[in-house]
Amino acid sequence: MDYSTLENRLSVLASELESEYLKRTQKSKELFEKSKKLTPGGVTYSIRYFRPHPIYVSRAEGTRVWDVDGNEYVDYWMGHGTHILGHAPKFVLDAVVEAMKSGTHLGYENPYAVEYSELLTKVVPGLDMVRFANSGTEANMYTLRLARAFTKRKYVIKVEGGWHGGYDALHTSVSPPFTGPESAGLPEEYLRYTLSAPYNDTEAVEELLKKYPVAAIIVEPVLGAGGCIAPVGNYLKDLRELTYRYGSLLIFDEVITGFRLAPGGGQEYFGVRADLVVMGKIVGGGFPGAGAFGGRAEIMELLDHLKIHDPRSRAFHGGTFVGNPISMVAGYSLVKYLAENKSLYEAANNMWEEFRRSVDKVCEEYGRICWSTGTGTMTGIHFTKLRPRNTREVYELRWSKQVEYVYHLYSRLSGVLYISEKLIHLLPSLIHSRKEVELFTDVFGRFLARLFKT
Ligand SMILES: Cc1ncc(COP(=O)(O)O)c(C=O)c1O
Repeated sequence: MDYSTLENRLSVLASELESEYLKRTQKSKELFEKSKKLTPGGVTYSIRYFRPHPIYVSRAEGTRVWDVDGNEYVDYWMGHGTHILGHAPKFVLDAVVEAMKSGTHLGYENPYAVEYSELLTKVVPGLDMVRFANSGTEANMYTLRLARAFTKRKYVIKVEGGWHGGYDALHTSVSPPFTGPESAGLPEEYLRYTLSAPYNDTEAVEELLKKYPVAAIIVEPVLGAGGCIAPVGNYLKDLRELTYRYGSLLIFDEVITGFRLAPGGGQEYFGVRADLVVMGKIVGGGFPGAGAFGGRAEIMELLDHLKIHDPRSRAFHGGTFVGNPISMVAGYSLVKYLAENKSLYEAANNMWEEFRRSVDKVCEEYGRICWSTGTGTMTGIHFTKLRPRNTREVYELRWSKQVEYVYHLYSRLSGVLYISEKLIHLLPSLIHSRKEVELFTDVFGRFLARLFKT
């Protein structure tokens, strides 16, 4: 079937599904109508918006979430990839409730932060020292500043499609055309020292390294929001080698990959050591305020006020809530469990590898209109003409303007939930069952069958 016929069919299918969705999600619709008057776009974060209205989730447990209309969904998004052991694991909740009895935010140095720092330095490769932050965005901001302070250079190379949060210097080259500010209100001048290269392209990186004094290359070991795309060949090792050669630092943004691909994240999984590592999401044990960064001692010592007395010669880091006991205890409990139960990773990574093969098989049956990508549990599905190797290809090789949306709607109606309706990238937990993995494949196959039905 040709692409234009498929596009027509998708339009018909969309209107059929939309009327079914309206029937099933009346209360969500009401909340959306109310919310639109209270907050821009009716949502707390635009990526959580679904057409024609988002679902409003009121409860979560394990791998499931329930919306206000009582619909149950298997969640393949898990709090933006935070809940690696499912929503609200009891042992983490118990530990936090116990700690909270002694205060929620102490505002002073506390033993929990010391213990958690020690644990992180044991679990994350090359982490001589660590500091905590309130989000992945914040952790990236401080890390980049530290890299610039250490190298005394200004330029940073990021990857096209790489998402590091909304911090000015890294808020560019996320989506097509991969140039200029990604937001209104962000002056071009703030991006003067930010360069970008396609993922999986070391030649482009070397060209930039030759031309500019680069403080650091920042990269997600596996591209996350850019489509869950795996490094090809020796990409990460080559970046490591190039940074050594040109005197730049290598920063791994492990906000998604950290504690996900392996307890020690992408560094452990791929056997490549970064100079600095950025953590978020899972590091907070499922609680808000999740962020940390760390790495080689000689770099981290630039934050040390005992060694460097002049504040202007140090790199600044801080924040009211950093190192609060809730984040520390939750993160500690979760990461300790992960480090002690490594076998979970092998099983989950293999299962999702198998999942990607099943998706590819289904795609082959339907004339190769789609492809899977990813590593470990991180999985992308792309309705493209070829398997994309970077985010530029994710967009350039697309054959439809609406298939991602229509599939998302179909999934929602089939009890399958993820973000986003623009780009399918799944961040499931390590406790998703084989049945839940098969449910996704099954729903995916049924969608294509319905689309191709004559
Ligand atoms: C790789 C990566 N880095 C940084 C961030 C930003 O983290 P946060 O949303 O906690 O600020 C994200 C968020 O999705 C991310 O995926």
